[in-house]
Order: sequence, then structure tokens, then C-alpha cells
Amino acid sequence: MDHADHPIAVLPGDVRIPLLGFGTWQATGEAGFRAVLDALDAGYRHIDTATMYGNEKEVGRAVRESGLRREDVFLTTKLPPERVGRERETIEESLRALDVDYVDLWLVHWPPSAPGDLIPVWREMLAARDAGLARAVGVSNFSTAQIDELIQATEENPAVNQIRWSPFLYDRQRHAEHRDRGVVLEGYSPFKASDLSDPVLTRIAGAHNVSPAQVVLRWHIDHEIVAIPKSVTPERIRANADVFGFSLTAEEMRDIDALGNV
Ligand SMILES: NC(=O)c1ccc[n+]([C@@H]2O[C@H](COP(=O)([O-])OP(=O)(O)OC[C@H]3O[C@@H](n4cnc5c(N)ncnc54)[C@H](OP(=O)(O)O)[C@@H]3O)[C@@H](O)[C@H]2O)c1
Repeated sequence: MDHADHPIAVLPGDVRIPLLGFGTWQATGEAGFRAVLDALDAGYRHIDTATMYGNEKEVGRAVRESGLRREDVFLTTKLPPERVGRERETIEESLRALDVDYVDLWLVHWPPSAPGDLIPVWREMLAARDAGLARAVGVSNFSTAQIDELIQATEENPAVNQIRWSPFLYDRQRHAEHRDRGVVLEGYSPFKASDLSDPVLTRIAGAHNVSPAQVVLRWHIDHEIVAIPKSVTPERIRANADVFGFSLTAEEMRDIDALGNV
């Protein structure tokens, strides 16, 4: 499948986020640069980084060296909540490190420890978006109740909530709560939060001649949940992007969903 045909979700402001992205936590230095370059070469058009990952410079260099146009790569970075009160300075540092004029998505990496900071941080995120520094803004590791607080205070829903997610954490209700609020669910640690040797995954993988890891990613995408697998291994980077040549049946999707109940 050509990357232009990769499935997407649409965020407020008509911002198109590819459902398959590339994770970069613990991919630092030259290895991080190489991994992102390999990922762009393998067809990923969505890269997930964060101030905390210490690799924005390498991510930016890889995007530049890929020769792709800036508008063809979806870039996410994240605000560490200990930067409360220094939000603008922090995104400006991110943009400088990435060497771009804007990011596509800026997330609050996790809820600030002082509950009173929740709304002020969110207002700063919205202000950065309105200033054109991020095309969309959202959150990470937020509960539905915390998302509701943001919406009640500002009438602006986070475009995305990035949370730990996998078949083994599948929670139909939590997913529906996001959908009902217009918040796209983005899953992280799809493999670390999975048992890739589980018999349900190996059976379904065998039936399609793919790996359990590929089944896990395809399952996210079929649920319209963003998946951001990380790898620094060239073969895995390629295999994790090669998930559009097979599809899961409704029964297989149900069997994988049921892993969340065990
Ligand atoms: N918002 C947050 O708080 C938060 C928290 C955690 C993660 N994230 C984001 O989500 C991304 C993904 O999560 P993650 O890095 O925690 O975990 P992950 O993507 O679930 O797993 C990465 C691990 O799986 C290995 N792996 C990759 N492809 C594989 C395959 N096909 N088969 C078997 N093993 C494979 C990788 O090894 P190699 O690299 O050695 O190939 C690495 O050890 C992160 O990189 C980050 O961008 C966000």
C-alpha cells in the first residue's frame, strides 16, 4: 500500500493523523536518528517524540535528510508537566530542536501533579495552537474525568489522548468514552503491553502468514486507534509498517478483543 493511502483519523481543524506512527522513546543519538530515517524510508509518515525523550534534534535531522516535504510528515511532541508556567518556552525549544515551524500535535505528557495546574496548562496548549505552533493539541495519560474537566472549563476537547493500550488492555467502554467526546485514542507500548506468544495471537498470525506483532498493530488500526510501535531494528521497523496487506475478520477482531478480559 502506498503511504498516501495509509488510514488516518481526522482531528479538529481537519488535521489528518496517520493511524500508524513510529515511536521513539529510548531511540536516542545516532541509533535514534537511523531508526527514524529507516522508518521514513519504510513508509511511516508519523513520528512520535517528546521533550523528555531527548531526541528531538535527531528526529528533526532524520526528517530533513529523508528529503520528504515537511507537510508530508506528521510530527508529535510532548510537554513535560513540570514545565508548567513555561509552556511557550518549551514548545519553542522543541521547534528549534526539530528545526520546524510547527508540530502537528503537541501533548501534555501526563497530568500535572497539582490538580490546580490542569486547566492553566490546557489553556497554554490552546494558546500555542492558536499561535500556529501546533496544528492540534491533546493530552496523554489522562483519565476520562480529567478530560471532562478540560472540556468543561474551555469547551475545547483534546484532539487525542495517548495512553497505554493493547489487546490485553482492551476496554470497550474507555474507547467509547473517548469517541463520545471527539477524542482520538492513541495507544502506546503496543508490544510491551502484549504477550506476543499468546495462542490467540499466534493462531491468527499463522492464518494470515504474518507475525503476532503485525496482528496487534492491525487490530489497533481496525479499531481506528492510533498505534505508535517503536523499534531500532531495521527488519522490525519494516515489518511493523507492513500491516496493510492482510485484514482481520470480525470474528478474529472479537477473539483479540476478548484478550482484554483475561
Ligand atoms: N505518552 C507516554 O507516556 C508514552 C509512554 C510510553 C511510550 N510512548 C510512546 O509509544 C511508543 C511505543 O511504546 P514503547 O516504546 O513503550 O513500546 P513498544 O513499541 O510496545 O515496544 C518496543 C519494544 O518492542 C520491540 N519490538 C519492536 N518491534 C517488534 C516486533 N515486531 N516483534 C517483537 N518485538 C518488537 C522493540 O525492540 P527493538 O527496538 O530492539 O527492535 C522494543 O524493545 C514509544 O516509543 C513512545 O513514542 C508514550
